[in-house]
Order: sequence, then C-alpha cells, then structure tokens
Amino acid sequence: MSAPVVILGIESSCDDTSASVIIDGVQYSNVISNQTVHEEFGGVVPELASRAHQQNIVPTVQAAMKQAGVTPEELTAIGYTRGPGLLGSLLVGSSFAKGFALSLDIPLIEVNHMQAHILAHFIQDKGEQNPVPKFPFLCLTVSGGHTQIVQVNGHFEMKLLGQTLDDAAGEAFDKVAKIMGLGYPGGPLVDKLAQQGNSEAFEFPKSKMQGLNFSFSGLKTSVLYFLQKEIAKNPNFVEENKEDICASVQKTIVETLLSKVKRAVRETGIKTIAVAGGVSANSGLRNELKALGDKNKWNVFVPKFEYTTDNGAMIAIAAYLKNLKGDFSKIGMAPKARLSVEDDLGWKS
Ligand code: KG4
Ligand code: ZN
Repeated sequence: MSAPVVILGIESSCDDTSASVIIDGVQYSNVISNQTVHEEFGGVVPELASRAHQQNIVPTVQAAMKQAGVTPEELTAIGYTRGPGLLGSLLVGSSFAKGFALSLDIPLIEVNHMQAHILAHFIQDKGEQNPVPKFPFLCLTVSGGHTQIVQVNGHFEMKLLGQTLDDAAGEAFDKVAKIMGLGYPGGPLVDKLAQQGNSEAFEFPKSKMQGLNFSFSGLKTSVLYFLQKEIAKNPNFVEENKEDICASVQKTIVETLLSKVKRAVRETGIKTIAVAGGVSANSGLRNELKALGDKNKWNVFVPKFEYTTDNGAMIAIAAYLKNLKGDFSKIGMAPKARLSVEDDLGWKS
C-alpha cells in the first residue's frame, strides 16, 4: 500500500486564520480562529487583521496538527492561500507556509482562494461518502468580497460567466446590517432575524444587470433611504420591524442571485449546480436553491456549514488535488492581492 498523502492547508486571506489537515482527501481537522477585533469597527481593518494572523497562526496550525494526530514529519506537502485577499494577511500565511515547508524539506503548494471555495465540494468527511459534483457544473460563489457564476469544467479549469460589478452579496448583507445597527459580520445576523420575519412586508428594487452580471450597491442605498423616511415618521421603526426588514432584504438578495443561476442554466444547459462562499451559509439561499433544484430536476450541491465561510480545509483539499498533479509552488513566489478564479497560473509568476 502506498503511503498516505497528508496535506496541511493554511488560510489567511482576510480575517480568519485557519489550518486543516486532509489525509487522502479526508478531513481530519479544520481549526478556524475568528478575529473579533474588527467588530467594534463594523468591518475588517487590514492592519489589525495582519497582526491577529501573526498572533494566531502558530497556535492554529498546532491545534490542527494535534487534532488530526499528525506530526510535522508525516506531512507530504503544505498548501496555502496565495490570493486573492488582503496583502498583509496573505503575507503572514505564505511566509509561515514557506518557512515550515523549507524546514521539513517538503513541497509548497499555492492555492487560489476563489477556486478553493468551489473545491470545498470535494472534501470527504471521516466515515461518510459525500457525493461530489460531476464536471461540468455551475457554481454560484458568494462571499464578502465576490459574487460570481463560474462554469467548472475540471478541478482547475474554471470559466467566469458573470460577476458583481460593484458590491458583493456578502457586502450587501453586511452593509444593510450596519445601517440597521445590528453589528458585524452582518450576514449571519440578518439571516437569524429573517427567519422570524415576513419576507413580503417590504419591497426593495432588484437591479436589472445585463447577462450574468450582478449589482448590489443600489440595494444598500434604497434600504438606507427607505429607513430614513420611516424613521422620520417613527423613530422606533427599525427596532419594531427588524425581522420583517431582514426577511425582505434577504429575499431580494436571494431572488437576484437565483434569477442569474436560472439564466446560467438556460444559457449553458448545465444542470449540476453548486453554491459556495460565506453567503452560502444563508438559510434562505440554501432552502430556495434546493427547492429550485427539486422543481427543475437540477442536481444541487450545498456545502456543509463549516466549509461555507473561509476555512483551511478548502485550501487543503485544493492543495491535495494539486499534489496529485505534482503542481508545486516556487519558493520565491509572492502573494497576489488580486487573482481571478480562472487563474491557475500565477504560479508561473
Ligand atoms: O467566504 P467568506 O467567509 O469570506 C470572504 O472570502 O469574503 O464570506 C464572508 C461573508 C460576509 O459578508 C458574511 O456576512 C457572509 O459571508 N455570511 C452570510 C452568512 N454567513 C456569512 N451572509 C448571509 N447569511 C449568512 N448566514
Ligand atoms: Zn472567502
């Protein structure tokens, strides 16, 4: 029997420090250290994120290795996020990964964070046989920084069919939450309140973007104007209606996203649909996508919660798949703040 392939994956692109061990494609640990330091600012402060990564990275990696019962000498390779993301945050993960790989004399594997969100669908959990999407499939990738529809033709063959031209869907959730004074990150808070509200209570305009592109900046403005008008009449309007406001905003975002998914299915004829990224944790989006899939006989893939927001396991699985191809990183590479989901290459730069 050949030796097991043991991959350590490190994620540090934004405000979560995460490390995971994947052995032969199966997840043995996925430790995520959230940074609470940003809450009082209502958004991620890049300098503070870099510092928190620096503080968290060693204990996070140690915890992931311990949980998996793996020693450094047993590692086959180390995968890390090369981009896209905040440069200072990326530098912490990439420098740590380089140093660790050099000290162990094992390969280093760079991972595109946007591809990794999608490849999270290929993670196997211990004792389970998770079905994986067959190529080609469509993936709606919705996070705090991106909103994209991607045609996935192979693990590393991805074609961007459409994307947001301004705010991302996660940003729309976060900004509405901020206007309402709910806290940060707003997506999970809006989701929770929405579950107790009436989504038909208020109507917000949906942007009409051409083709498969999105726009969410208008929604934030219309919610702001609407609330200003209502608060002028009743200062307690938000407090008294927060569940209905959240449910109505969530419905608008979910319907906008799904209308483009329907269009992508029509245009490509592909009926295997996956969703990925932090906003794929949203209960409304998950339920509506599953319902739409049942109705239209699509094969729908919704990730487990722990693989929706940023996590090390998605980096580890992407690195595992690259390791199978012998696709390693040069030790001299630098992180990239900007990187397209189609980019499987920067590896040459
Ligand atoms: O993928 P992710 O962890 O980080 C990025 O790569 O951006 O996504 C974070 C985003 C945030 O905007 C957060 O508010 C949103 O995902 N999010 C949600 C939910 N959970 C996280 N949005 C809506 N509903 C949720 N349950
Ligand atoms: Zn992400």
